Amino acid sequence: MARSLKLVCASLRRQRFHTSGSHSKGQTAAEHLWLTRHLRDPFVKAAKVESYRCRSAFKLLEVNDRHQILRPGLRVLDCGAAPGAWSQVAVRRVNAAGADPSAPVGFVLGVDLLHIFPLEGATFLSPADVTDPRTIQRVRELLPGGRADVILSDMAPNATGIRSLDHDRLISLCSSLLDVAPDVLHPGGTFLCKTWAGSQSLGLQKRLAEQFQNTRTVKPRASRKESSEVYLLATQYQRVKGPVED
Ligand SMILES: C[S@@+](CC[C@H](N)C(=O)[O-])C[C@H]1O[C@@H](n2cnc3c(N)ncnc32)[C@H](O)[C@@H]1O
Repeated sequence: MARSLKLVCASLRRQRFHTSGSHSKGQTAAEHLWLTRHLRDPFVKAAKVESYRCRSAFKLLEVNDRHQILRPGLRVLDCGAAPGAWSQVAVRRVNAAGADPSAPVGFVLGVDLLHIFPLEGATFLSPADVTDPRTIQRVRELLPGGRADVILSDMAPNATGIRSLDHDRLISLCSSLLDVAPDVLHPGGTFLCKTWAGSQSLGLQKRLAEQFQNTRTVKPRASRKESSEVYLLATQYQRVKGPVED
């Protein structure tokens, strides 16, 4: 137990939890608070029970329950996929492992800077940076027909604790993904991305509104109330560049 607490604390020091609260408190107090909350968190417990790789699975499950973005047969690009909980959800919902023989079989491609342990039904490209054009080229080669029906991004840069800087870096990650959407996303497709609310949020929402028929913000229950995290969901992609190959 002592060892696992040390590991959690070490990981916390590397990647500080991004909240809207003050970061001026001593790190030990912040770590203590995080640990207490983590150990009591019902989503952490549920993730263990349901064998999800982390609690974030419940964010995607809720978005999907409310908005039906995943269904059997769809091709999903999961950006920032490590450790793989969203991919687990996607594999089940699009029938990527062919678990339901009566339903169409989908495809899930996960990409992350970090290594991702194999998952039946998913293809992983890792370590790989989605902002690197070579990664996008490889993504196009791996996706059946060269395109995804759904782009998911739960990507997050390592948080510095400086809210405006972290916000800018995350918006920049989302924007880079939107830049490649014309080459990767199928017309009519869906785009779901994590953001940390801030000064550039409106700009990103406007960009989405120009390219998708419907856009909305979503705050799933598993996304902590005190966190500035909010997801942008855009459906019915309209902008197309280049030939569509399927
Ligand atoms: C919150 S985690 C994702 C959790 C994941 N959705 C799950 O359910 O298991 C954010 C991930 O984004 C990844 N990431 C950040 N920047 C990235 C980039 N430029 N390219 C690929 N992955 C990136 C990080 O390595 C990290 O694993």
